[in-house]
Amino acid sequence: MDLSTTYLGFRLSNPLMPGASPMADEMDWVKRLEDAGSAAIVLRSLFEEQITREQQGMIHHMEVTSESFAEAISYFPRPDDFIFGPEEYLNHVRKVKQAVKVPVIASLNGTTPESWLQQAKLIQQAGADALELNVYYVATNPAETGLVVEKRTVEVARLVKKNVTIPVAVKLSPFFSSLAHFAHELDLVGVDGLVLFNRFYQPDIDIEALEVAPVLHLSDSMELPLRLRWLAILSGHVRASLAVSGGVHTVGDVVKSVMAGAHGVQLVSALIAHGPRHVRTLVHELTEWMEKHENASLEQMQASMSLQRCPDPAAFERANYMKVLQSLRV
Ligand SMILES: Cc1cc2nc3c(=O)[nH]c(=O)nc-3n(C[C@H](O)[C@H](O)[C@H](O)COP(=O)(O)O)c2cc1C
Repeated sequence: MDLSTTYLGFRLSNPLMPGASPMADEMDWVKRLEDAGSAAIVLRSLFEEQITREQQGMIHHMEVTSESFAEAISYFPRPDDFIFGPEEYLNHVRKVKQAVKVPVIASLNGTTPESWLQQAKLIQQAGADALELNVYYVATNPAETGLVVEKRTVEVARLVKKNVTIPVAVKLSPFFSSLAHFAHELDLVGVDGLVLFNRFYQPDIDIEALEVAPVLHLSDSMELPLRLRWLAILSGHVRASLAVSGGVHTVGDVVKSVMAGAHGVQLVSALIAHGPRHVRTLVHELTEWMEKHENASLEQMQASMSLQRCPDPAAFERANYMKVLQSLRV
């Protein structure tokens, strides 16, 4: 049974890997993840704000009055809230790289095409095999068009590509008005992979304390269909390889992701819930599933699904939408 896949140009023994998270903070976990069969290790992100603050002694890009500036600053984590500062992050990349044989994917998280992006070069020099760029951004400015947001993001990706020779993946959110076009633009600047998708951690309101409170809910498999839809739409239409992130918990989730076009399958919530050994369980169950369904390779699984691909996904989406709404009778 051939579980191998090509992601970001790396031939991997299987598509499973931990997604960017604290899971690879400790070397013990890194080793356990590799031993359990993780085909790559994705590190947590280093944030733009961490780098710009070190560079300038302040948060960059906040042209606001001093009162609101002070308030805005108070929302941000303090430097010692971050596990790794920029220098420590580079040391961590070196340590993880020495400890494992599988590719190590570092992560940068930011939204502006500024000097912090030079950090990408340092991360490459520290030994990272690839870089994931998380462009987490909620467009809240009424004066800013979607096109401006997209252009800025493409520019960030272009600059990262310019600074490094290792493969670069961009981790996207689903909230772009024309995601297929945006993915195509990223393809044009040479991005090597797209990770679908970021999760947005919406703050909640604590109605007793009368406070806005950050909340971290782990995902469940309900989050996967959004990813499957976009994997299927983009698959075969972008040069970049595709990874799924969000809602992969069971072997069924892995099979669906691969069928929809994922070359890499990232797991975070499932590994937080079950520990690194869950990778081994999933590899085992995936092998069993493929045996049972007479699929010799992941490529074969993908090919069987691509035969069913609709030539007009927008028409398919509308048809599906109408069918679903008509399916319930009271
Ligand atoms: C505790 C925690 C920390 C995370 N840290 C990062 C991070 O540093 N960078 C990043 O791109 N994503 C980060 N994520 C998001 C995950 O990589 C992933 O996209 C998300 O959890 C969805 O995948 P899942 O459904 O498998 O959990 C984090 C998620 C969790 C739960």
